[in-house]
Amino acid sequence: MIQVGILGATGYTALELLKLLLRHPEVEITTLTSRQEDRPHLASIHPELTGRLNLHLENLAPQTIAAKADCVFSCLPHAASAALVKQVLAAGSRVIDFSADYRLQDLETYLKWYGDEHPDPERIGHVPYGLPELFADKIRSADLVANPGCNPTAPILGLAPLLKQGLIQPYDIIVDAKCGVSGAGRTPKMATLFPECNESVTPYGVGQHRHTPEFNQILTQVTQQAVDVLFTPHLVPMSRGILTTTYVLPQGTRDVSELMSSLRAFYADCPFVRIVEHLPSTKHTLETNFCDLTVRQVRNRFAILGSIDNLCKGASGAAVQNFNLMFGFDETTAL
Ligand SMILES: NC(=O)c1ccc[n+]([C@@H]2O[C@H](COP(=O)([O-])OP(=O)(O)OC[C@H]3O[C@@H](n4cnc5c(N)ncnc54)[C@H](OP(=O)(O)O)[C@@H]3O)[C@@H](O)[C@H]2O)c1
Repeated sequence: MIQVGILGATGYTALELLKLLLRHPEVEITTLTSRQEDRPHLASIHPELTGRLNLHLENLAPQTIAAKADCVFSCLPHAASAALVKQVLAAGSRVIDFSADYRLQDLETYLKWYGDEHPDPERIGHVPYGLPELFADKIRSADLVANPGCNPTAPILGLAPLLKQGLIQPYDIIVDAKCGVSGAGRTPKMATLFPECNESVTPYGVGQHRHTPEFNQILTQVTQQAVDVLFTPHLVPMSRGILTTTYVLPQGTRDVSELMSSLRAFYADCPFVRIVEHLPSTKHTLETNFCDLTVRQVRNRFAILGSIDNLCKGASGAAVQNFNLMFGFDETTAL
């Protein structure tokens, strides 16, 4: 049995993670943290888990957490996450970090986009990006994995093979995303209040969304060429799911079947990437760890359409996939 702890257990990604880990045959959940006072019982925070796990959420020291957990999942916001993660690592646990703290490849870019001091700057650029379909070998042996952002997941999975094989241009890539409201977390914010977001679709972070450097750095790393992505997300009135449309220019003369064949071949052994003939929809991937991808011709461009569940393949499902690789279990266990 692998003993597991969850930091920030009151949030949405933590709830999804708990549901997945509770059906993992090799996991014992031992530690849940929250800054809330009075050690709330898990059932009072997540009533749907009543009777499933008899634990209280506590504000624990990193050493106490590490003493009870071989693996710690950090579901904290950026900056708060790295501040704790570095101490949990020092105390001997392996960590899967949900925040953006270790995803970017250089400190300067982190400071530019996240505007904070980084609590653990030495590790930046040395942590594998937790997309198992692209980085499984590095993830297996890592003590710390940077779980991907929810928005970049499907577009990166669609773009990486096509860029690697020289089928599309690395510039003029436009990603348009439609995102469910849980992507903003459970912590209350004005934009995600029901009267603000219901019956309305609203763009956000236009030209300055923090996932932009993540797209560019990870795709540049994977394909060994400078990749430039324009990214615009839109908040849509659904609880969960992300639909992405990625417009690309072909390199040379290409057709849809060539791009589809390339994706099929690349993901032939990847259980969670489905190359589909139909148009993806967030309903098809809801509460699953699948990423559905397809390609269509749109005049002189191709559109790569992708769908994931932001809380599963975009967060906790990917984290469990990474956990399985790190601890030698079948990649699909509990998923
Ligand atoms: N939501 C998604 O779809 C998604 C997808 C991919 C990645 N992520 C990333 O995953 C992480 C968690 O996201 P989430 O959606 O689960 O967020 P959330 O629902 O807002 O939960 C975050 C939890 O972190 C704790 N927390 C907040 N500020 C803190 C601080 N300054 N210090 C210590 N603890 C703090 C809170 O617990 P207490 O208040 O009880 O202490 C809160 O429950 C974030 O880094 C997010 O960017 C989210």
